[in-house]
Amino acid sequence: MHDFIETDCLVIGCGIAGAISSLELAEAGLQVLVVTRGENLTDSATDLAQGGIVYRGDQDSPDILAQDIMRTGGSYCSPKAVEILVEEGAPLVRKILMEKVGVTFDADDQGKLTLIREGGHSVARIAHRQDQTGRHLVSHLVRALSKHPNVRLLPKHTAVDLLTPQHHSPNPLAQYEPTTCVGAYLFDQEKGGEVVGCLAPRTILATGGLGQLFLRNTNPAFARGDGLAMAYRAGARVINAEFIQFHPTTFFQRDAAAFLISEAVRGAGGKLVYRDGTPFMEKYDPEWKDLAPRDVVSRAIYQEMMQRDLPNVYLDLASHLPANEIRHRFPGIFAFCLRHGVDISQELIPVVPAAHYSCGGVWVDEVGETNLKGLYAVGEVACTGVHGANRLASTSLLEGLVWGYRAARSIIDRGGTSRMAWKIRPWKDMGRELPDPTLMNEDMNTIKHIMWNYVGLVRSAPRLQRALKELRNLEFSIEQFYRESHLTDQLIGLRNAIQAAIIVASAAWKNKTSVGCHYRIS
Ligand code: SIN
Repeated sequence: MHDFIETDCLVIGCGIAGAISSLELAEAGLQVLVVTRGENLTDSATDLAQGGIVYRGDQDSPDILAQDIMRTGGSYCSPKAVEILVEEGAPLVRKILMEKVGVTFDADDQGKLTLIREGGHSVARIAHRQDQTGRHLVSHLVRALSKHPNVRLLPKHTAVDLLTPQHHSPNPLAQYEPTTCVGAYLFDQEKGGEVVGCLAPRTILATGGLGQLFLRNTNPAFARGDGLAMAYRAGARVINAEFIQFHPTTFFQRDAAAFLISEAVRGAGGKLVYRDGTPFMEKYDPEWKDLAPRDVVSRAIYQEMMQRDLPNVYLDLASHLPANEIRHRFPGIFAFCLRHGVDISQELIPVVPAAHYSCGGVWVDEVGETNLKGLYAVGEVACTGVHGANRLASTSLLEGLVWGYRAARSIIDRGGTSRMAWKIRPWKDMGRELPDPTLMNEDMNTIKHIMWNYVGLVRSAPRLQRALKELRNLEFSIEQFYRESHLTDQLIGLRNAIQAAIIVASAAWKNKTSVGCHYRIS
């Protein structure tokens, strides 16, 4: 009953990066299997992206964009990766998103794109579709994939582990070869927990980020570090994992989940204020004020909340934009806040920072290839070096597009997708007992609290030490649980979450210097 399926390319994840790779590969004639955990193929972090995608503004140039990216990301940005992004990004937005896939961005009556500005950008250059850019993008991409005869879509499947002959061949001689990824074990959420092996000469990891490791976050439910942990277990190099970006503004109400209030709201004139309406960003960054990079704004809010013992600060849009424009420009944010009793066209919006984006991840080169043969990584799970120590707003969709495309082109240009020589063991079930959901929920809550309290916006040696000690204890129990229980999606995620949390906390512990979004007080 435990079969292997075979394909030319296995793509795990279907946000912008995974979808672009899949489409390019399929168009070149390769058979592509796209696997997603969610029921809907559109379930991804891309779907939740509100702000937009970096394009090219008036009075703009690749050099000016590169300066903005490097100023925000500090000395950790890879100059080569930044150059690729700024040179290739805008032409690919036009060629692939607009012309091939048919994405339309907001434009004026003459058809000229109405580009906006966000934090850290020196000019207005972000193309958007109201406050639902990602949803619009991903629905077009999934539609194109669904129609393609070379694409097989497999929703409700969770990747369990990447397959390498070095770890999964019955032949001990495989360990003497360089580590090579040849596919993944896939858990079918519907068939009572059946696991199938998928064999593919090329695997693209596009699983997104890990925001769910933190108590307050803007991420989808499945952003639990699955890809990072799987790649790490297989032997992939992981870099810059300490750089977790906190978004300054998420809607705050006790007991309500964090909801992103796009930086585009500040781009449209919104100001961070106290309850009495007094703005406060000028004292933290007199030049950029509310449009300073996210690490500066998030820490300013944190400091205000600590010093004044506040549960939140406020965002004032109503004083800066007419009510009808607010409703037209930000329909999603307007509707969400209204459902929670706040009319943003009249009232202040209560906000706090929340974990938002992992700037580090699985190391990849200029075409998205990892240090494992046969394994590529694209999108948030990967670290190309573009974001350095702190990501510039709205560059992640662009990075997903550019590296999604480059990874596919590299696979196509290299050819050689022949089947591999080593035998792989079929999946072997471990325990028979279903794991106790109460224990799993509590373990996940513990991870979220540890990461939020000790590996959050402001870090210190004692906090990180405590985090690592508690996470390692928990890892031991979770691993035991994993080995003894019948597999479930939640259990796979919990095991990945604890491993990803340890990767982030260890990187934060090792880096003693405050830089970008990694801020240490000791
Ligand atoms: C936002 O709309 O503020 C989020 C966009 C991004 O993280 O780039």
